[in-house]
Amino acid sequence: MTRVLHVTPNAPEPDRIEIAARAIREGRLVAFPTETVYGLGANALDPAAVARIFEAKGRPPTDPLIAHIASPDQLRGLALDIPQLAIDLGERLWPGPLTLVLKRNPRLPANLSAGRDTVAVRQPAHPVAAALIRSAGTPIAAPSANLFSRPSPTTAEHVLRDLDGRIDLILDGGPTPVGVESTVLDLTVSPPAVLRPGGVPAEILREMIPTLDVSPRVAGPAESASSPGTFLKHYSPQSPLLLFTGPRDSMLAEMRRTAQQLLAENKRVAMLLATPEISLFADLPVITFDLGDDLDSVARRLFTGLRQLDSSGADLILAHDFPREGLGLAIWDRLFRAAEGRVVIGNW
Ligand code: TXA
Ligand code: MG
Repeated sequence: MTRVLHVTPNAPEPDRIEIAARAIREGRLVAFPTETVYGLGANALDPAAVARIFEAKGRPPTDPLIAHIASPDQLRGLALDIPQLAIDLGERLWPGPLTLVLKRNPRLPANLSAGRDTVAVRQPAHPVAAALIRSAGTPIAAPSANLFSRPSPTTAEHVLRDLDGRIDLILDGGPTPVGVESTVLDLTVSPPAVLRPGGVPAEILREMIPTLDVSPRVAGPAESASSPGTFLKHYSPQSPLLLFTGPRDSMLAEMRRTAQQLLAENKRVAMLLATPEISLFADLPVITFDLGDDLDSVARRLFTGLRQLDSSGADLILAHDFPREGLGLAIWDRLFRAAEGRVVIGNW
């Protein structure tokens, strides 16, 4: 059985944090909220605890984990040859949804980095995450707290649904405020490269790194990817998802045509839509999920929408892209992966 402890997100109860921190020190698994998504935490310095994360998630051992820290001082224990740029980025954007890939301190457990000579590090901003890491007194390794290839969890219910009975404890601090995972920035390559777009927009990074490489990373087998989590199936829902793109009017018209065609074939159709679009499809017997009407809310609700429509028994989920600026790039990346490359271009 997995125990669930409620905590107040902005002022977590110290006694509950201490229960979770003790579990971490004892090598057990604790899911906790960060500002992006829930993480599945274990002591990053304990190889047996780190191995338990891979086991609980069903994650391939080739996909490295992020070490979460409570203060930039902890960087020195994790990374070697830390560039000034890492310090500057940390000062400006930590705590926050930015993960830095750096040269790994060889004293770290090899499985944390999946055998690589780099390590990913992030200082999360969520008060529960910060308090937990501080109380545990050790960096906490944490991937997103979902089963492998399921959408990331943005609520404790999502975590429970995937991992009940497989982990010791969940700190329930309510829904996570950002909703998409951190931006993963590789500082061991030149120019620095965004391996995964996320909560810190590329535009912000480019202010400090004009040469930033943000070319999309879509890889085949995990082994060949520089960020192994970039392979296509990573976020895939169980119902197939079709992603529509193109000028807004033709994109929406193409979605309608596709929905009508599927309905005519007696298929159950679900749609991920922005608030103003819900009424456009009200005449069709489709299941809709309202993502809200700005990129912040789309990011916050995206994984809940994917999970909800996935369990609605739909034969197909139709979604469309959003402007690829700010958080839109991370939203597009998650939708593209959920679609496993099934993209329909409405362009007439
Ligand atoms: O927002 C987040 O980043 C959340 C919260 C819990 O912090 N964590 C998260 O972890 O999304 P995960 O494991 O689901 O995704 C981490 C990504 C993966 O794509 C992984 O391949 C990449 O970071 N990564 C980790 N270590 C790496 C390394 N040394 N080199 C390249 N990529 C790395
Ligand atoms: Mg993940």
